[in-house]
Amino acid sequence: MTFTIEQLPIPATLEAPGGNDFARSAAVSNEVEHGLWGHDDFRLDVRERLTMMQPTPDRERVLGVARDRGEIVANARLSIPQRDNLRTAYLQIEVLPSHRRRGAATALLAFMEHQAASCGRSIIMSWSDARVDGHDGQDRPFLVPPTGAGVFPADDASAVLALQAGFDLVQVDRQSVLDLGILRQDQDGTHGLEAQESEAAAAGSGEYTLLGWADRCPEHLVGDYALLRQRMSTDPPLGGFAQEEELWDAGRIRREEETSLAGGASSLVCAVQHASTGQLAGHTILERFGSRPAVVYQEDTLVLKEHRGHRLGMWLKAANLRRALDEWPDARRVYTWNAEENTFMLAVNVALGFRAAGRTAGWQKVLS
Ligand SMILES: CC(C)(COP(=O)(O)OP(=O)(O)OC[C@H]1O[C@@H](n2cnc3c(N)ncnc32)[C@H](O)[C@@H]1OP(=O)(O)O)[C@@H](O)C(=O)NCCC(=O)NCCS
Repeated sequence: MTFTIEQLPIPATLEAPGGNDFARSAAVSNEVEHGLWGHDDFRLDVRERLTMMQPTPDRERVLGVARDRGEIVANARLSIPQRDNLRTAYLQIEVLPSHRRRGAATALLAFMEHQAASCGRSIIMSWSDARVDGHDGQDRPFLVPPTGAGVFPADDASAVLALQAGFDLVQVDRQSVLDLGILRQDQDGTHGLEAQESEAAAAGSGEYTLLGWADRCPEHLVGDYALLRQRMSTDPPLGGFAQEEELWDAGRIRREEETSLAGGASSLVCAVQHASTGQLAGHTILERFGSRPAVVYQEDTLVLKEHRGHRLGMWLKAANLRRALDEWPDARRVYTWNAEENTFMLAVNVALGFRAAGRTAGWQKVLS
């Protein structure tokens, strides 16, 4: 079968020309996510997807689709950073289960490599997911990244495709999930969280103060917060990714906050402030989308290098989770992703009750 590959314009609104095609492409994304995970926790409303895909001064987007007899059956999204990482583009490909093994991904990949190269990009980074489930028998072949941490099933379609297309496996992340329902029902669980928080707070209190905000960083903290967000781009273990430090300032923070709010997302941020200098020493972010209030994402958690070793990571995370239990009574699950070699962060998560639910392979290709 031959597919028609084309670039879709990203309309400003769903009512604008191209809105119907965009909605169909968003439906393909949701169907692929459902097929992969067997649940809809990563489903995004079409308006949320549209907001996320709008170009900003920080990131351009290219949306490519494959059509079979006029119907959109596969997507490829390229995200092209504009302020930093100017050699790099980030790629995601999704093919409807009913249209696999017919060359759609291969054709979209070639199309997007050409797009990336024509924007002057020579490094393509991509991620693919696999469930942790009963198929992980002893005889299943696994790939091990050069970090030596974590494994990814070698027979997963994404792995076969990526290796064949010249990508290297450069890192494996663990996807973990925390069941807030259990935590809520079980008094011990809530007390456990409280105990983790107060134990960690005891190690840091005196020298550090905990503060928090929702959705919008207070004006007097935004410069410090931008530095934390910048460090988050390269401080966590990067495996073999050629990731360069991102450039963050108050303007970028505000643009990101506005995009999130416009897309119906809300966030809870906790930060620690170093008492003697007044500077922010670390932060953590929980985020959720309006269309799925039960599902929360644990985003960044960072403590600046010079402030590590005071249990600030645990303090931040436990405190923000307790806030989420109070402020988001309909939240049920928290998802997070960590590099398998990030032993410190994984230990904190396991202590908080997170359990492994999936594997994410990090792929990288240098275009010749
Ligand atoms: C991975 C994915 C994009 C492949 O899409 P596809 O259109 O089926 O891929 P293609 O038909 O172009 O396959 C190209 C080659 O990859 C390999 N391949 C693809 N799927 C495979 C599978 N299930 N098992 C083994 N090899 C596979 C084969 O070598 C295939 O060539 P062949 O069919 O001639 O043998 C699709 O399975 C998918 O959408 N998965 C979920 C999302 C994802 O993981 N995306 C990739 C990360 S961005």
